[in-house]
Amino acid sequence: MTAISSTTSPAGSSNSTAARAFPTRANYTAWLSQKQKRLAQEGREDVAHQRTLEREKEWIAASPKARQAKSKARYQRYEELLKQASEKQTQTAQITIPVAERLGQNVVDFEGLTKGFGERLLIDDLTFKLPPGGIVGVIGPNGAGKTTLFRMITKQETPDRGTITVGESVHLGYVDQSRDSLDGKKSVWEEISGGNELILLGKREVNSRGYCSSFNFKGADQQKKVGALSGGERNRVHLAKMLKSGANVLLLDEPTNDLDVDTLRALEEALEDFAGCAVIISHDRWFLDRIATHILAFEGDSHVEWFEGNFQDYEKDKMRRLGQDSIIPHRVKYKKLTR
Ligand SMILES: Nc1ncnc2c1ncn2[C@@H]1O[C@H](COP(=O)(O)OP(=O)(O)O)[C@@H](O)[C@H]1O
Ligand SMILES: [Mg+2]
Repeated sequence: MTAISSTTSPAGSSNSTAARAFPTRANYTAWLSQKQKRLAQEGREDVAHQRTLEREKEWIAASPKARQAKSKARYQRYEELLKQASEKQTQTAQITIPVAERLGQNVVDFEGLTKGFGERLLIDDLTFKLPPGGIVGVIGPNGAGKTTLFRMITKQETPDRGTITVGESVHLGYVDQSRDSLDGKKSVWEEISGGNELILLGKREVNSRGYCSSFNFKGADQQKKVGALSGGERNRVHLAKMLKSGANVLLLDEPTNDLDVDTLRALEEALEDFAGCAVIISHDRWFLDRIATHILAFEGDSHVEWFEGNFQDYEKDKMRRLGQDSIIPHRVKYKKLTR
């Protein structure tokens, strides 16, 4: 077991929340095949869905080297990504994330960042720069300080020492972990669309019903009252609202919690094509393996490690640095705060 794997098995389960975590590759592949077969039997011709499954299989079949190359290519070719994003405008039933403004070279700079609460030092002298095309996975045990880092970026918290400099071109998009900013009396469609049949995604007008359905709210689901939604459904409403805001730096705090597998894969795909930077707190190692170009790891004793590569590469590096046992999960330990 590793720090980020989960205990639920998707095999033999039709429960959507169980489908978000996959303990082993063999298990997962079996589950995918099963699901594909079932869909075929039901005669369902859900093209987008089939495409997602095909993509999953391809990814599984790819060598670790190929996967690594893919993640590197992404942020090393930010210019190309921008170009592609403006050309690639017609995607069916998939999430697309519009971008308002191109990012300059200075996205967010962290310099000697130090933060604690009371006796606990959470972050000790952290220095790194977010790259324009980076997809950064933030990992670490509960209580390590991950959400606090986001709250410092959005200026809801202040550093004890050091600085966070947000570049001029940056438009932050933040989905709060508490997810309490929705109006319970509105319908899903009203909440996401603001009551408009057409909404602006970047420079493009799209039908708001179609936009809702790309977050898996189809037909009557769009009329459900927000107050009556499950956690996963609320999560999707939040994502839909935030992703249409035109932000070019996304801060996602555990977006993979309670997401059904279709929305999760659609989100992954959208992030891959996203012409901006995303920072994502997640415990889902499959998600991190596939899309992360960098890892920011709260490793304990107030140390936060900045690493270039996906989760798999990070773990390898951590074992090399700290030994085999270092990837076994531990409860978080803090250094005493010295002021
Ligand atoms: N405003 C606050 N005042 C005091 N302690 C806080 C405050 N916000 C967070 N903490 C504490 O700081 C630690 C890190 O919290 P948090 O950043 O939410 O962790 P994570 O998101 O990694 O689970 C926790 O022990 C939490 O209780
Ligand atoms: Mg948190």
